[in-house]
Amino acid sequence: MKKISIAIDGPAAAGKSTVAKIVAEKLSYIYIDTGAMYRALTLKALNSEIDVNDEQKLIDILNHTNIELKHSQNGQLVYLDSENVTTEIRTSQVSNNVSFVAKHKEVREEMVRRQQEFAVGGGVVMDGRDIGTHVLPHAEVKVFLLASVEERAERRHLENLQKGFPSDLEKLKEEIALRDKIDSERETAPLRKADDAIEIDTTSLSIQEVVEKIMALAEERV
Ligand code: C5P
Repeated sequence: MKKISIAIDGPAAAGKSTVAKIVAEKLSYIYIDTGAMYRALTLKALNSEIDVNDEQKLIDILNHTNIELKHSQNGQLVYLDSENVTTEIRTSQVSNNVSFVAKHKEVREEMVRRQQEFAVGGGVVMDGRDIGTHVLPHAEVKVFLLASVEERAERRHLENLQKGFPSDLEKLKEEIALRDKIDSERETAPLRKADDAIEIDTTSLSIQEVVEKIMALAEERV
């Protein structure tokens, strides 16, 4: 059977990674979380006390940085220069800085180059902000997931509480809205639905229902 590429874009905390992982598993495809790559670079910049607005320094460190996405029984693991940073890249400090790192044109060009390399040969489900528009413009299936800021903040809040992380719902709403604003207003590859992407509003849908919709689109195209 033909191995296709599936691009899943959308704003912060729209459930992209949750559904992308399930779809990839069902199809025995590789799941690629591109947000994790920007998060890993952000973590390294913060640890090295590099200003997230300093494009040249960021590019210099990115060129000497190895970011690996490994698949394990416990889901995807993220390695930064051989160190497992799967948990560290999800802190609010990283979340609140990552959009500044991801704004820079040269940083994006290098990330997109690496992401396209991962996707050679198809059989991938990739999630992010610019997958349908820039990284995989020829993906057979393109989906844009949407949900209100309130809904997304509530989901993230519950997730945090379940993991035992401290969480403040109102603060989450503000942080998510700000991240969307920076991602949507940046000059290079802003968060945008590709013209040929199918929009799915997940506000009143279960994870299972969203997965089923994407699987139906994939089955039409394999
Ligand atoms: O998907 P996630 O929320 O982990 O992404 C973190 C951040 O990385 C986004 O808010 C955005 O600034 C950046 N990002 C991006 N392009 C992608 C994926 C993520 O700019 N393809």
